[in-house]
Amino acid sequence: MSIRIDRCICFQKTFAELKAIAQAHNAESVEALQQYVSFAQKCRLCRPYVAEMLRSGQTVFTRLLSPSDADQI
Ligand code: FES
Repeated sequence: MSIRIDRCICFQKTFAELKAIAQAHNAESVEALQQYVSFAQKCRLCRPYVAEMLRSGQTVFTRLLSPSDADQI
């Protein structure tokens, strides 16, 4: 079974959209990006993916990340 994770489901924001906003504002952390757009404030499952997106630029993920992954990023 393959998975495709590319957005914050709770706030309907794709990681590609969040990446564009991050680049426009030079936001380099989840907290900095949250000053410009709402995401990751309900279930928070998307948070490690957004953290990884900010680090690597990747916007589509095919493996699961856990909340503890965000602490290491
Ligand atoms: S998927 Fe982003 S807060 Fe739930």
